[in-house]
Amino acid sequence: MIEDLVCCLVVLFVSVRTVRSQDFVSCFPGAPGCFVLDRVGLASYDPKGPFTCSQRSGACMTTQCVEEGPYYKTNAPIQMIGEGRNGFTPQICPNSVSNDRLIMNGTVRVVDANNPCGRPTRAMLDVWHADPEGNYTDIRPSAGDYKCRTRLITGDSGFYTYSTTMPGRYASPALGPGFRAVHVHVKVTPLDSNNKPIGRTLTLQQYFALDMYMGKNDVCTECRSDDPTLITHLQHSYDIKTFDGVHDILLAAIF
Ligand SMILES: *[C@@H]1O[C@H](CO)[C@@H](O)[C@H](O)[C@H]1NC(C)=O
Ligand SMILES: *[C@@H]1O[C@H](CO)[C@@H](O)[C@H](O)[C@H]1NC(C)=O
Repeated sequence: MIEDLVCCLVVLFVSVRTVRSQDFVSCFPGAPGCFVLDRVGLASYDPKGPFTCSQRSGACMTTQCVEEGPYYKTNAPIQMIGEGRNGFTPQICPNSVSNDRLIMNGTVRVVDANNPCGRPTRAMLDVWHADPEGNYTDIRPSAGDYKCRTRLITGDSGFYTYSTTMPGRYASPALGPGFRAVHVHVKVTPLDSNNKPIGRTLTLQQYFALDMYMGKNDVCTECRSDDPTLITHLQHSYDIKTFDGVHDILLAAIF
């Protein structure tokens, strides 16, 4: 009897592990287990009411919005984080031992009448950023290259995490002389349990404290790189070449 129980528990454990490793492989185009189809149907959400970002809500501020810029590309591969606290960390840019790594996590929350500082919500995070040289991959839909671009879908806890290479600093001659603050672009969409959007998409950029090109030094004057709701204080918990930090995202009430 006890042996049977042990046997079954082992089988259960093994099968859970197997499902995880299939669902959670690093997702580069062509990688096994990588969803390249757009399953999420973002176009189906019909916005109601005015859109607000960076509003006071009780003791909290909702997260600031920032323009998406010229390098967004739709239909990036999807990685399911699920309840990602179990150790799976999706990869955005392929890891490279010669470059600094960036490991981020946080929780997506949404304001409602009873929760001015938000309650966790399932969400999709469409993440893209420059590679360590400061370059983005080709944005034309005909170019199949989705390096350094992915969509993450959280579980109901709203917990997200990703690992990537630290984005390179780059100039933006179209905007003028100088550099952009180092940043990661994210579009955040709250989802229901069927991964259907239940609110508007917040477009933002994640910035990092101590970047000398933030705020008034940012060649992009519209990019709000001095907004505290967008800035993470990174640390080195594991290694001097690995930056890690927490950025929680608070969406304004959506209905
Ligand atoms: C990255 O961009 C720079 C100029 O912005 C260019 O010289 C370089 O070739 C690019 N690197 C790659 C790998 O495309
Ligand atoms: C989130 O990131 C922080 C900072 O790197 C780390 O201390 C914490 O363990 C991470 N949390 C999870 C659940 O991974």
